[in-house]
Amino acid sequence: MTTTRPLLGSPMTRLEGREKVTGTARYAVDYPVDRVAYAWPVPAAVARGEITAVDATAALADPAVLAVLSYENAPRLHDTDDRTLAVLQSPHIAHRGQFAALAVATSLEAARGAAAAIRVAYAPEPHDVILTRDHPGLYKPDEVDEGMPTDREHGDFDTVYARAQVRLDAVYETPPLHNHPLEPHAATAMWDGDDLTVYDSNQGATAVQHVLAELFGLATGKIHVINEHVGGGFGSKGTARPHVVLAAMAARVVRRPVKLALPRNQLAAVTGHRSPTIQRIRIGADTEGHVQALAHEVTTQISALDGFVEPAAVVSRVMYAAPNSRTTHRVTRLDVPTPSWMRAPGECPGMFALESAMDELAIACGVDPIELRVRNEPTVEPDSGLPFSSRHLVECLREGTRRFGWHDRDPRIAGKHEGRLLIGSGVAASTYPVYVMASHAEAHAGPDGSYEVHVSASDIGTGARTVLTQIAADALGVPLDRVRVRVGSSDLPPASVAGASSGTASWGWPVHKACTELRQRLEALGHSVPEQGLTVAADIAEDLDDREDYARHAFGAQFAEVQVDTVTGETRVRRLLGVFAAGRILNPRTARSQFIGGMTMGLGMALLEGSTMDPAFGDYAERDLASYHVPACADVPEIDVHWIEEEDPQLNPMGSKGIGEIGIVGTAAAIANAVHHATGVRIRALPIHPAVLMPPLAGARQASPS
Ligand code: MOS
Repeated sequence: MTTTRPLLGSPMTRLEGREKVTGTARYAVDYPVDRVAYAWPVPAAVARGEITAVDATAALADPAVLAVLSYENAPRLHDTDDRTLAVLQSPHIAHRGQFAALAVATSLEAARGAAAAIRVAYAPEPHDVILTRDHPGLYKPDEVDEGMPTDREHGDFDTVYARAQVRLDAVYETPPLHNHPLEPHAATAMWDGDDLTVYDSNQGATAVQHVLAELFGLATGKIHVINEHVGGGFGSKGTARPHVVLAAMAARVVRRPVKLALPRNQLAAVTGHRSPTIQRIRIGADTEGHVQALAHEVTTQISALDGFVEPAAVVSRVMYAAPNSRTTHRVTRLDVPTPSWMRAPGECPGMFALESAMDELAIACGVDPIELRVRNEPTVEPDSGLPFSSRHLVECLREGTRRFGWHDRDPRIAGKHEGRLLIGSGVAASTYPVYVMASHAEAHAGPDGSYEVHVSASDIGTGARTVLTQIAADALGVPLDRVRVRVGSSDLPPASVAGASSGTASWGWPVHKACTELRQRLEALGHSVPEQGLTVAADIAEDLDDREDYARHAFGAQFAEVQVDTVTGETRVRRLLGVFAAGRILNPRTARSQFIGGMTMGLGMALLEGSTMDPAFGDYAERDLASYHVPACADVPEIDVHWIEEEDPQLNPMGSKGIGEIGIVGTAAAIANAVHHATGVRIRALPIHPAVLMPPLAGARQASPS
């Protein structure tokens, strides 16, 4: 073998691509199973209250119906930290759409019919579902995410802001957003004595295994979670979800395997989503745009069952040199569905606010928005004072400037017309942290010269299986076709979730470590593999502990060109360009599709996506993809993605940063900034619907003499 690395950095196609396009790849409820039964949940019809009666008489009249479960008769579960998993354990309803009952039958149709025939009576209680900036229930949570402080303060924000030559004070809002993966949350559950096997659509088989063991009071080894193929998750499958608990519970009760695929119209209430945020940003700067004081104050919500506090202000601890700063999070507990992770939780909504504000500051100071960001580039991470392991935001901005043709842009607002269309362009920065989580892997050499690598990784459509094979073959120094990587089962060496853009690093590192050691041991044996083969196991917990302290983040620059129809108020994106600095790109093909996917989702966030809370019913109104608009092909222009070569020895043996989430970060701000450039209208609350854009546009038309 040569000493170059032909495998890392090569654009391999997905190993399971043929299976997927020919329809033979099996997802959670695709496995043929003998004597299988089907479950269909009954969502609660009140936003808060008690179940007073469950009448299953009509449902059970159908001989195909095997069981109707509710809190009255469901098996008792042990506690876990996640109260959304305590399904059918109590008559109390914490939010509309929470599971009130479950029908199990020998056919899907019978289960669905039975669910409709179950009569649940409630004693409703008044509910409170609307977030406001002055909600009386607002409090300061202990932390916003594991280990992330709720508030941070540096210098003297109030004094410096009050004296600043240029002051910006604006409130930005992001709506509730739903992940809506193509494959719904789904599971097939089978018991064999006290052994439970589930085919489950999730982002982490090991994590789901542990939670199910806890809930059912069984040893971890008794639980087998298989997630061979997963049709997306975007965070909503990052932890065990109630559907898999229901499926396992139902299978135990009816003593048959049970399949449960949540219908699309139930996903919004029970699988997690991104909480709405209200973000006040204040910036005090000098007239050249040097930020002297920055406050980012976030108001958001969780449910009566807890949930994830969107850490949206954290980006302001990372992005710009602001000697005086304040970042805070306040949260209120409402009778709403439980929020969780959605692609770049925190960074995504936070950067909409911060990068919109930076655009407003640039205009207020008369400084080019790219130059403004360059002027505020910090030398160390502003909040921690730690050096960056690598930070190439300025290079991304410069490269994007060149590729986008930014210098040709007329800085005047609303200066470019094409008939009734107004044309404009905008820029925003992007960032996402570099996470690595402790994971294990095993590498096995067979006497025939083949290799098997095992790791309980989850390929949720990203290409994880493929890039792990590249990493393994590279470390072993053998061609790709000699290596088989097995992922997608909790029976494999335990590994972390496909979340926080950490998969490639967290799984690739122990794979690399096991394969490197295996190669060395084989070399010591003169390349003769023992008859029984040779296996090496690796664990990276100590490697992680031994890492030096650095601020580790990926960065990027997002550019957008839009056209706004002055008659209809419709915004269309004409061009999107993203330039990223994310360490070494291990597979340009799958990486590009991650970046493009993230940017497409950012486009959806800017223009189309948003769930609306129905104040009377207390639930999200959008229950299908006809009302929750994700971008369709015709909404998405050509998306141009580039990255700069980034060498960073402080990451992992492959030199990679995560790429799954950074693509969504900053996209919505770039588009909103472009809309402002096109029209002069600043939209601070997403999405930028014609209905919000039309009134100010019409006002501007009336005011203009032509
Ligand atoms: Mo991602 S939202 O961390 O699965």
